[in-house]
Amino acid sequence: MKTDTLNASEIKRYLGSGEIGCQIYFAEEIDSTNTWAKQLAAEGAPSGSLVCANMQTAGKGRRGRNWASPKGESLCMTLILRPEILPQNASSLTLVMGLSTAQALRNLLGLDVQIKWPNDIVISGKKLCGILTEMSATMTGIDYVIIGVGINVNQMTFSDEIKDIATSAALEKGEYVSRAQIAAEVMKQFEINYHEFLKTSDLSGLREAYDEMMVNRGRVVKVLSPGNEFMGTAVGTNEKGELLVEKDNGEIEAIYAGEVSVRGIYGYV
Ligand code: BTN
Repeated sequence: MKTDTLNASEIKRYLGSGEIGCQIYFAEEIDSTNTWAKQLAAEGAPSGSLVCANMQTAGKGRRGRNWASPKGESLCMTLILRPEILPQNASSLTLVMGLSTAQALRNLLGLDVQIKWPNDIVISGKKLCGILTEMSATMTGIDYVIIGVGINVNQMTFSDEIKDIATSAALEKGEYVSRAQIAAEVMKQFEINYHEFLKTSDLSGLREAYDEMMVNRGRVVKVLSPGNEFMGTAVGTNEKGELLVEKDNGEIEAIYAGEVSVRGIYGYV
């Protein structure tokens, strides 16, 4: 396999100066960049610090799943933020990162990626990227938010378990791509979108761009929220980042959390 160099100076080379990525912590191998980021944040790492690794031995996915992060192939990074917003608004930052990642992959690689609400990046019906946000807050407000991004970049094969639902940038593009360049582009896009988000502490200024990239929009979805399972048509998102689903009777329900399956994505037909 062609070697793709990933380290702090390589990312910095493409990133330039800005608040996002102001400090870069890099490890050749780590259990999870989210776990490391939490430790660094607790020790006082500044807002905008980026934590990155060449491979993870215990990458964490959503809902307690594992996240495979093979050496030299996947991009695993976690951003530390200390936003002055209410804790209940912090989950929207996941959507801000989803939008930023999708924009970066489109701008840099010309890939026709879409967002599967709330934060998977998909292409050709398969998953290219997942995002896991965690937060530490007290009665007085947010201490830190960490946003972990896992992008399948240079994988040419996947395990039997995920080969039908996962793809990589290299497979889609037909050539190896630079993880450092992708990391920098995602952070640059995030910096722009984060400033927009902070104006209102919600997604009012980003909703339109997000909805345009959303694979769910206008499609029949199966909502699998605990205790509330139904089918309907996804019509967009609101300023809180909730998915708006129109039921057969015309009623629109805002979905805050839970799994949403879309026909044709990850094999749901
Ligand atoms: C998902 O299940 O879709 C979310 C996957 C998130 C994976 C990333 S890789 C970088 C960061 N560190 C982790 O342990 N997880 C996130």
